[in-house]
Amino acid sequence: MRFTALPSLLHLLPALSIFLDLQGVWGKPISHLSKCKLAQYPGPSNPSFETGDLTGWHVLSGTAFGNGSVTAQTSYWGGSFNQKGKYFVDSFVASGDPAIGQLRSDSFLASSYLSFLIGGGYDPVNLYVGLVRDSDGTLLKSQTGMNDEALVRVIWDTSAWAGQDVHLLVYDNNSGSSWAHINIDDVRTGCKALQDDNGLTFTVFGEANQPAAGSSSSCTLYAADPVRPQYHYSPYQGWINDPAGLIQWNGQHHLFSQFYPDAPLWGPMHWAHATSSDAVHWAERPVALYPPYPDNPQDTSGRWTGSAVKDAQNQLHILFTDFTDLALHPGSTEQVVSAATSSDGTSFLLYSQNPVIGTVPAGSSNGFRDPKVFQDPTDNSWKMVVGSGEGSQGKVHLYRSTDLVSWTYVGVLFEGDGSTGSMFECPNFFPLGDKWVLFYGGRSLGWFEVGSYNGTSFISETSGLLDAGPDSYAMQWYKDASGRNLAITWLGNWPTSKWPSRLNGWAGQQSITRELFIRPDGGLGSRPIPELVSLEQPASAKVWTQKKIGNTAVVLGQTTTARLRLTIDTASSTATSFSIHLFASSAESVLVSYNFAARLLTLDTSNAGYGQTGQWQPIVAPGSDGKLSLDIFLDHSTLEIFSSDGVVTSMRVYPRYQESQDIKIEASGQVVFDSISLTPLESSWC
Ligand SMILES: *[C@@H]1O[C@H](CO)[C@@H](O)[C@H](O)[C@H]1NC(C)=O
Ligand SMILES: *[C@@H]1O[C@H](CO)[C@@H](O)[C@H](O)[C@H]1NC(C)=O
Ligand SMILES: *[C@@H]1O[C@H](CO)[C@@H](O)[C@H](O)[C@H]1NC(C)=O
Repeated sequence: MRFTALPSLLHLLPALSIFLDLQGVWGKPISHLSKCKLAQYPGPSNPSFETGDLTGWHVLSGTAFGNGSVTAQTSYWGGSFNQKGKYFVDSFVASGDPAIGQLRSDSFLASSYLSFLIGGGYDPVNLYVGLVRDSDGTLLKSQTGMNDEALVRVIWDTSAWAGQDVHLLVYDNNSGSSWAHINIDDVRTGCKALQDDNGLTFTVFGEANQPAAGSSSSCTLYAADPVRPQYHYSPYQGWINDPAGLIQWNGQHHLFSQFYPDAPLWGPMHWAHATSSDAVHWAERPVALYPPYPDNPQDTSGRWTGSAVKDAQNQLHILFTDFTDLALHPGSTEQVVSAATSSDGTSFLLYSQNPVIGTVPAGSSNGFRDPKVFQDPTDNSWKMVVGSGEGSQGKVHLYRSTDLVSWTYVGVLFEGDGSTGSMFECPNFFPLGDKWVLFYGGRSLGWFEVGSYNGTSFISETSGLLDAGPDSYAMQWYKDASGRNLAITWLGNWPTSKWPSRLNGWAGQQSITRELFIRPDGGLGSRPIPELVSLEQPASAKVWTQKKIGNTAVVLGQTTTARLRLTIDTASSTATSFSIHLFASSAESVLVSYNFAARLLTLDTSNAGYGQTGQWQPIVAPGSDGKLSLDIFLDHSTLEIFSSDGVVTSMRVYPRYQESQDIKIEASGQVVFDSISLTPLESSWC
């Protein structure tokens, strides 16, 4: 897939820093709460701008800051600003994005901890909130924004400078016209930096905890990051999107990802590479493909999404979209299909005669990308689907080859009616049972079509959403050595601007490995692969059988890395509905509720923290025996809900508070659970 709105802030970045000193400490509020008492001094004056102006703050230069940049706005196009109190500072409001300037606080004595709310553009060099030592002007710490307006709390351990005179510097030297401003609010010091006024402990953002490329410290550093998934693949730093090149080859599962290592933003695409013997525990491998012009960060040319097969020489054979930045290379073809091979599964050689498809077929004005190759049993040839579209209608092109090198255009395999998007990205096509399945991305969502195929022509019979939640896109299918149809999907925050993990240096993750099947209603279903039990800690599991739950909430446990399985006897239940609270505390929760009469599952994140807010409502049906099972995976910032009929609902969530770990159930009436189990899951990186 591609990104149509290119970030304007591509530039060379300094190496992202590593905070080894904090490893294993973050995430344990108690040790912080004793350490915070060691040095507590008042912070800067007017710390939350509640005077409604810059009293106590000083404009050092420029026009980006002034009394007019103190604002009481409460919402923007993407939701609520989440300021504390009435006012906050936004360097956009007074004079727009291009204005630059510097604002400093009064001086104060550094405490053990300092925290503040930050929003605005991502540009570590030119846009940040910094802590400066008065005596020598040293910039001790700095934090840039996330390319979102909403404010997220950053917490710094400032104990190394405790008692020294310091000030905050709000620095906007980005004169661009997009994401060239910074927002700040509610500076807090000492123990107050760690807890809100009700005594809840803030989630720690802004301590990067990134391992070096290829290092073995992922286990502890990932564990120290409160939003880093512990058993899902995420990049050690930078950005990932589409999973690509999925294959089981010589026993190993290979997962490649669209990757930009230099910033947690989309950029010139690399192929990150990970391998696994069980499709659960992934190990980071060297980057497989690099963009063609890596020395020029302004050049967005890159190696876009593609697929992998085993060729006749038992080589790993990759076919991918070669994207050329036409602004820098006028006259080129923007999107062509190229190939690369590997005989050792580690180093990849670009095919000397690239591209293998250099001419875009007619009727493809919206794009031509994401080749997915499969073996076609109808004529024993290689076939390839490529995403495309023209006007308001997405489409999928079909190609044929016998040697993976020379490709013949067959025709248009499928054309949408416009309702699922004008450009179909990441198409996949394969037989499943006695049906053929096509799925693709469009309108920021994944769509499936189940139907019949005769070697050239596909007729869809049943269609629907691949995932009922908002955060799954660019799913890729592969058939493993045992013949299972598996899939992994990108879990980004694609429909929104909310990417809080950017504060920790990374963005994007892949789903757990799922097995695909045809649902009882003819749609495409997903279920977690059985190998995931290897993450379970059965000795710590809590199990209930024949458990009846009514109007009094039952707390099952406190955790954010776990598997919660429930089987409901709908025939014996008299309740109209029940609700499961996840990532819950007195301040916030993710609500998963079920309405028996409507068979409606509702995922509600209206009050779930820093992430996207909303409601998603798939129909989820009990089996013919009246039983309905939910298999729920929680992983720090990830939620995947698999229901027994094959519907999956995925979402990224970012609780504000460390206490938001409760898992509890309540009902309107009585619900009979045949069984409930809550099982902690281990990190797959340790
Ligand atoms: C902001 O307004 C206050 C009160 O009118 C004034 O004293 C101060 O100089 C102003 N600050 C700036 C930076 O304009
Ligand atoms: C501020 O930005 C300008 C224009 O990009 C650049 O030339 C200058 O070096 C920057 N200033 C600092 C102190 O980085
Ligand atoms: C496949 O179906 C299409 C549409 O019905 C038809 O035109 C074509 O001849 C069929 N091809 C084969 C190989 O049966």
